[in-house]
Amino acid sequence: MKRRIAGEIDRYLAVARDKNIPRLQTAPTLRLQGTVTVKIVQIFQPGGPEALVISNVPEPTPGPGQVRVAARAIGVGRPDVLMRNGTYKWMPPLPATPGGEMAGVIDAVGEGVAPGLVGRRVLVSARELVQRGGCYAEAICVPADAPFELPASISFEAALSLPNFLMADALLNRCNPGVRARRVLLTGAAGGVASAVIQLARLQGSEVIGVVSSAQKAAFATAMGATHVIDRLRDAIPERVMALTGGEGVDLALDHIGAGILVDCLHALAPFGMAVSYNIVGGPPQPEIFGELRKLVGRSLALRCFSIHSFDHDRATRREATERLIGLMAAGRIAPPAATRMPLDAVRDAHRILDAGETMGKIILTP
Ligand SMILES: NC(=O)c1ccc[n+]([C@@H]2O[C@H](COP(=O)([O-])OP(=O)(O)OC[C@H]3O[C@@H](n4cnc5c(N)ncnc54)[C@H](OP(=O)(O)O)[C@@H]3O)[C@@H](O)[C@H]2O)c1
Repeated sequence: MKRRIAGEIDRYLAVARDKNIPRLQTAPTLRLQGTVTVKIVQIFQPGGPEALVISNVPEPTPGPGQVRVAARAIGVGRPDVLMRNGTYKWMPPLPATPGGEMAGVIDAVGEGVAPGLVGRRVLVSARELVQRGGCYAEAICVPADAPFELPASISFEAALSLPNFLMADALLNRCNPGVRARRVLLTGAAGGVASAVIQLARLQGSEVIGVVSSAQKAAFATAMGATHVIDRLRDAIPERVMALTGGEGVDLALDHIGAGILVDCLHALAPFGMAVSYNIVGGPPQPEIFGELRKLVGRSLALRCFSIHSFDHDRATRREATERLIGLMAAGRIAPPAATRMPLDAVRDAHRILDAGETMGKIILTP
């Protein structure tokens, strides 16, 4: 599977070369003699992948109460695209550095921080920082209590999928509290968040019906543990779900595509089921969603719009859940999905893959 994904990337890069898609430009930077510089990705003007510019900046120095983390692996996710095109609701000021997570080693500490932290292997999640983004960088300074320490058994690359597991945990356990879904329907089932949802749901004893758009993605979702897979370009989702569940439907449907697919999810629910919309990459639901809920009133369905930002002011819950997931990964009970690795310099190509909806598993940039 890994080899197949690598082949896809190679094919993609070859097409980009043939079509003369401009490669990454490096911004003009100030080079002071003797100054150590690091690469960071910056957005000066939101837009397409070409809005991502590599800059060489002086290596950051940790301030009081901070540590510096030298990146070994950097995660790429869809929220980075929203930041890149300027539609992110929690947009940091420009020039902005995208990136929701990096894993690396603490290599310097600021005033008031125990020097013994140097050398620790950690995960930095931007959810723990005052503003989102910042992780597309060879080094970052963060408050000393922000990173999560990684046990030796969790590789830097594996750690990058932990924020997706946190998202999966919230989708499965916080959206419909107290209700353990027997069956979960999941769209975009080969994506990064979805790969985490599949594993956690299976661990909790739920069946997972994954929805994908190709045979290759179907194979990927099955390998991640999906119980059944529906190809949405070939089959009607509600009819297939009803056929697979003996006409009962699913208890929970998790969707980030929207448009007609969110409406299809409603129609696949069992009585008292809930659909959770956690993005609408394909556009607003069509037809009008409340009208559809009314049509299905005999099933008493619920619809929730979810954002992980609901936990921005709940540090204790975020950290408890992340530590629990680190424990599950260290024990081998959850595992990162296959990764597509690209150098930091190829960040624009990584975003082209995201834009094309071709992601399978996690995209990782290596500094
Ligand atoms: N609400 C929140 O708090 C929150 C937090 C983090 C992430 N998210 C959202 O979670 C979703 C999954 O994130 P991710 O990083 O796992 O994404 P990803 O890996 O890029 O997964 C994308 C998958 O979505 C499907 N897709 C369908 N229509 C698409 C379109 N128009 N553009 C792109 N992809 C499309 C594709 O699968 P098929 O082709 O098989 O359908 C693709 O495999 C994203 O929408 C992201 O913004 C939400």
